[in-house]
Amino acid sequence: MVANHKSNKTWDELALWLDAIGPQTDSFAGTVIVCPTMAFLSEASQKVKTAGWKLKIGAQNVSHFETGAYTGEVAASQMRDQVTYTIIGHSERRRYFGETDAIVAEKFQMAQKFEIKSIFCVQDENTPIPAGVKIVAYEPIAAIGTGIPDKPENAKAISAKIKQKGDYIVLYGGSVDAGNIKTFLEPGLVDGALIATASLQSDSFSEILKNTK
Ligand code: PGA
Repeated sequence: MVANHKSNKTWDELALWLDAIGPQTDSFAGTVIVCPTMAFLSEASQKVKTAGWKLKIGAQNVSHFETGAYTGEVAASQMRDQVTYTIIGHSERRRYFGETDAIVAEKFQMAQKFEIKSIFCVQDENTPIPAGVKIVAYEPIAAIGTGIPDKPENAKAISAKIKQKGDYIVLYGGSVDAGNIKTFLEPGLVDGALIATASLQSDSFSEILKNTK
């Protein structure tokens, strides 16, 4: 289960969220990953380490450049000690920040080089997936932040098509909440979920974790 906080939360708000969710991840059967804003990766990772929670930290993006004169970029080499995962190729990155298939493939290479695991977002079954990717998040654009998730049958069909292309872990993302999470996790459907809106409040994220069982 991946919580993508996007550009939300002050440090104080994130710290409260971590205090609420962190302890629950210890008894959770699967992996729980939180992707806070870049600004707090370091503090968040420190807090999780100190508490000893099973919760993992992910970035929402990584630079396709190594180090050097790239104002505003955060390189994989700079975040590798703070994160285990990074999201790559989210549709918001593609749409608002001009990330092309070629750029996201370079980002994946950079993450690989610095041993950060990628959660590679595809918008449909035709989005190119670079060789070596292990975790794919299927996120249909119309379902993101709209409250109208993809139909589970459709998510299942797309997930099956993606799995035909490689031995991937497939996540579904787009208006997942505590009420519908179970419909996506039916056997043979998807392996997990990428959740933004319903992950922001710790109570609703906690409900989601409970309802996966
Ligand atoms: P949502 O977003 O859960 O708010 O629909 C999902 C995402 O963008 O990863």
